[in-house]
Amino acid sequence: MKTSLTGIKPTHLPHLGNYLGAIRPALSLVDRYRTLYFIADYHALTSVRDADKLRGYIRDVAATWLACGLDPERTLLYRQSDVPEVLELTWVLSCLLATGQLERGHAYKDALARGGSPNAGIFNYPVLMAADILLYDTDVVPIGKDQKQHLELTRDVALRLNHTYGEDTLVVPEALITEAPLVPGTDGEKMSKSRGNGIPLFETPKKLRKVIMGITTSSEALEEPKSAEGSTVYELYELVAPEQASEMKRKLAAGGYGWGHAKQELYEAIEAEIGSKREAYLEIRADEPKLDAILHEGAEKARLIAHATMRRVRSAVGID
Ligand code: ADP
Ligand code: TRP
Repeated sequence: MKTSLTGIKPTHLPHLGNYLGAIRPALSLVDRYRTLYFIADYHALTSVRDADKLRGYIRDVAATWLACGLDPERTLLYRQSDVPEVLELTWVLSCLLATGQLERGHAYKDALARGGSPNAGIFNYPVLMAADILLYDTDVVPIGKDQKQHLELTRDVALRLNHTYGEDTLVVPEALITEAPLVPGTDGEKMSKSRGNGIPLFETPKKLRKVIMGITTSSEALEEPKSAEGSTVYELYELVAPEQASEMKRKLAAGGYGWGHAKQELYEAIEAEIGSKREAYLEIRADEPKLDAILHEGAEKARLIAHATMRRVRSAVGID
């Protein structure tokens, strides 16, 4: 089986967009690949500046993925910083990269364009990401289009290291471009924490319903026919309950069916999808010692792979 690796930044409590656009697609890979999932807490340091919050997000995110079906018996789940060799590899890789390549990084350029003075962590982010991937002999990395440039840099630096020091040092990974959907938020724009348009994943059903009732819709009267196309409520419904979506489309087109009805059905469909996961989440999140133990066990297994890679790398570059 080929190895697939997924990194998850613990920067906020996951929302429905994270679930439908990242968690669910990533967990569908376990049957086809040997899967590794890690919480990218070093990466989160580029933006999170509150230690207690970061500690919380790490556990929130780990508990979310476990509640959504990540089975630590079948896959590896670990915390990036529990295998600090990743920083050692980051250094070796950075000595093989031209600064110009990092200057062309999308995230760094965007941060500059916003007029700030980005920290060096944002500048070096892609090198740490390359080390995440290369440390674990990764064959494929499931990514959306936004991460394509990072993967190209990872491949470049791996090929360069192999070319410079010996072809068998690093496995050169490939991108697995996923067809993950873009999930709209309550205002119809891409759901994101920073826009404040998120639909919570594991808040109470009451809060969930309230947020869904607040989704922006067009303002036709109840009896008027309505178009499903371009409607946020319908788009979300299609993602959560694809088998029933044509039925909702028909009802909307027929008239006599209001957005309030559609929102209620959307709420019920989301609740059916995540209700039992919420219960699992609350239970897992409440038992921090057990959660930490799962992460530590994962790290121990991850470390075995990382140590073998670093032995090869140190020996190849001459600092063994
Ligand atoms: P960012 O990467 O912008 O900080 P997140 O941390 O929320 O945003 O993203 C984590 C993962 O969830 C990424 O893989 C991202 O593509 C996915 N994701 C986030 N928001 C959405 C959305 N609205 N639709 C689909 N996928 C999303
Ligand atoms: N950069 C990824 C994101 O923003 C997170 C990440 C860090 C990652 N290291 C990785 C993803 C390694 C895949 C492989 O979502």
